[in-house]
Amino acid sequence: MFKIAVAGTGYVGLVAGVCLAEVGHQVICVDVDENKVNAMKSGLSPIYEVNLEALMQKNIAAGRIDFTTDYQDAYKDADAIFIGVGTPEQPDGSANLANIATVARQIAESIRKDCLVIVKSTVPVGTNDKVEQFIHDFLVHDVKVEVASNPEFLAQGSAVHDTLHAERIIIGTASKWAEELLMEIYEPFRLPIVSVTRRSAEMIKYASNDFLALKISYMNDIANLCERVGADIQDVIEGMSFDTRIGSRFLKAGIGYGGSCFPKDTKALQYMARQHGYELRTVSAAIDVNHDQKTILYHKASARLITFNGLKVAVLGLTFKPGTDDVREAASLANVPLLLDQGADVYAFDPAGTLNFSKHFPEGEHGNGRLTFATNAMEALEAANVCFIFTEWDEIKAVSPVDYNQRMRTPLVFDGRNLYEVEAMEQAGVEYYSIGRNSTRRSRAKESKESEYQTARHE
Ligand code: UDX
Repeated sequence: MFKIAVAGTGYVGLVAGVCLAEVGHQVICVDVDENKVNAMKSGLSPIYEVNLEALMQKNIAAGRIDFTTDYQDAYKDADAIFIGVGTPEQPDGSANLANIATVARQIAESIRKDCLVIVKSTVPVGTNDKVEQFIHDFLVHDVKVEVASNPEFLAQGSAVHDTLHAERIIIGTASKWAEELLMEIYEPFRLPIVSVTRRSAEMIKYASNDFLALKISYMNDIANLCERVGADIQDVIEGMSFDTRIGSRFLKAGIGYGGSCFPKDTKALQYMARQHGYELRTVSAAIDVNHDQKTILYHKASARLITFNGLKVAVLGLTFKPGTDDVREAASLANVPLLLDQGADVYAFDPAGTLNFSKHFPEGEHGNGRLTFATNAMEALEAANVCFIFTEWDEIKAVSPVDYNQRMRTPLVFDGRNLYEVEAMEQAGVEYYSIGRNSTRRSRAKESKESEYQTARHE
């Protein structure tokens, strides 16, 4: 078992640290935020992830994991240091490597024994060569240090499971010593390991993420065409998924991909290609389709209504996907401001993302409209004129077609996740628009309420 330090306690760093401790390594996690470190020491996870807090507490009790702000103490005698700090997107689409550079310099100044530095953060191809050079340039003690690439493929909401049961572990190393050490560290996980060069490992991460983003944008593109030619995307997905060359996952059409990875990694790869004089046309297409997809329902609704001004609009789902409190690049962030600007009275519900969403848009007046957070879906729907569904939370799926009819003033639903059968909504008297499927005929049961769209105004 090895003595391992982990730099950064976000999704990547903390989950890696906890899982490395779980398989028996001695782990110390480093973060600059003292309050966060104190909370983690007492077993509180700063992020919402299934099973993470329980595993943290178990390994703290077993004495296998600790947390500190003292990087010198953590790094000085570590066998290996994992870097899991953020590489946020810059305005030009490139990855910001400032956090990596800070940690690399701290490592160079602190280590007093031979050590392997393992970069888990997503970084442009060639970065790890530079990180190694950078560490050597600032190295204080005469020790051997090398850098390895070990990209992370965990998805939010299933991060612990994805790490402990990963389909593969990618390691990119520049020497036999580094390769063998990293293989030994991962040996207790008993998972398939693909060992390649550092640059290939860095590229595998972008190529994998961008391929998945492309798959989603492709399905969204096909879904939009389905609507125009009278095909049903759900049927098309089913038919395609039997072909094992295509596979059944990541074919879901919807309101576009969000989160901390696909939007950032597609833009970073596009930027990297352009830096090398190459236009990555497939990835550029995925980015363009995704951009338009996020507001496709808003535009459908705008075409259907005379105005949003004074209408009560229910928004169900603020996070970029269920099982997380993360709203980064979520469809809600693209749509809610448009609705508020148009004078809508927005009642938003999300089981976990309200706090993070309120950091962008707090409750209250915005533009011509007003934002209120509802405590459940039914409250958001009460007397609403329009409903948008952006996230497929179980709490939102639990709303039945009849509920929309009974709760809403005028049951007009725009569903970005295809949660309902079109016929079921039609039978319940709901006017229903979704992605890549035929819409319901306008419900006769509710036609008498039509005039209320025009007359509803703020009290
Ligand atoms: C993703 C990758 O899955 C993971 O391997 C990588 O390490 C980080 O990026 P994550 O962003 O957590 O993980 O979520 P994921 O479940 O992949 O979903 C990303 C976005 O794509 C979500 O907005 C989701 O709603 C959307 N999506 C996903 C679709 O629209 N359709 C699909 O079929 C699948």
